[in-house]
Amino acid sequence: MLVSAKEMLNKAKEGHYAVGQFNINNLEWTKAILLTAQEMNSPVILGVSEGAGKYMCGYKTIVGMVEGMIEGLGITVPVALHLDHGSYEHAYKCIEAGFSSVMFDGSHYPIDENIEKTKELVAVCNEKGISLEAEVGSIGGEEDGVVGAGECADPAECKMIADLGVTMLAAGIGNIHGKYPANWPGLSFETLEAISNQTGDMPLVLHGGTGIPAEMIQKAISLGVSKINVNTECQLSFAAATRGYIEAGKDLQGKGFDPRKLLAPGTEAIKATVREKIELFGSANKA
Ligand code: 13P
Repeated sequence: MLVSAKEMLNKAKEGHYAVGQFNINNLEWTKAILLTAQEMNSPVILGVSEGAGKYMCGYKTIVGMVEGMIEGLGITVPVALHLDHGSYEHAYKCIEAGFSSVMFDGSHYPIDENIEKTKELVAVCNEKGISLEAEVGSIGGEEDGVVGAGECADPAECKMIADLGVTMLAAGIGNIHGKYPANWPGLSFETLEAISNQTGDMPLVLHGGTGIPAEMIQKAISLGVSKINVNTECQLSFAAATRGYIEAGKDLQGKGFDPRKLLAPGTEAIKATVREKIELFGSANKA
C-alpha cells in the first residue's frame, strides 16, 4: 500500500529527475494529488505538516483516509505518506500511526543535538522500513506559524548528517516557504554544488517549491535535488478557482451550493498545478 520514499528517490537521483512532495489539507487535496499522479504514472509523496495533521483530526485519521483512497480509487503508482518538518515527538507519533516516511527537522538544534536525535531516528526508521528526511540549515519563510530566518547550510554539516544513513537530506540554499519576495536573490547554486559534492548519492530535498522559476528547478535537479516540496501553490490555485466560482454566482444557481459542486473547481485547479509540477520535475512515467 503505502511505500517508503527510499526507492523512488534513489531512482530519481540516478535518473536525474525529482519526485514531488505535495502537501495535503483535506480529502479533496488528497484525491486531486493521487488521481493526477496516477494519470501521469508518477510516484508521489503526500506531505503532512503538524498543523495539517491536527486539522485533519490526527495522524491515524490521515493514514486511514489515504490508505482507503488508494484502494477506493485504484491507485497503483508508488505513494509515500510523509510527515513534513516534524519535531522529534511528532516523528514518533507518525511512525506509530502508520506513516511510511517522516521528516525530522532538527535544524534549529545545535548540530550535535541534531546529529544525536537524527541518529536515533535512523535506527528506528530502518527497523520499520520507513524513509527519513533530515534537515540542515533552516528554510526561510513561514510555515504553520513557524518563521524560519532562512540560511545556507554548511556542506560539512550536511555530510555529517548524510553519513548517519538518512534517506534524504533537506538543506537550506536560500529557499523560502510561501511566496518569494520581489527582491529574492534566487537559489544559491554554489551552496547546492558544495553540498552535492560532499553528500554524493544522497537524494537532496528542495523545500519551498512554490514560485521557483522553471530554469532554477531544472538546474537544482541537475545538481542533485531529487525531491521538491510544493504546498502554497496548490493553496493559491484552489483559492483562486473557488473565488471564481463564487464571484460568478454559481453557488446561487440550482444546487451550486452542494459542496461536491462548490469544491470541484478548486479540486480541478489543484490537479492542474500538480500536473504542471510533475511535468517540470520529470517524474511522469517513472512509477
Ligand atoms: P511552499 O509552500 O513554498 O511550496 O513550500 C512547501 C514546503 O517546502 C513544505 O515543506
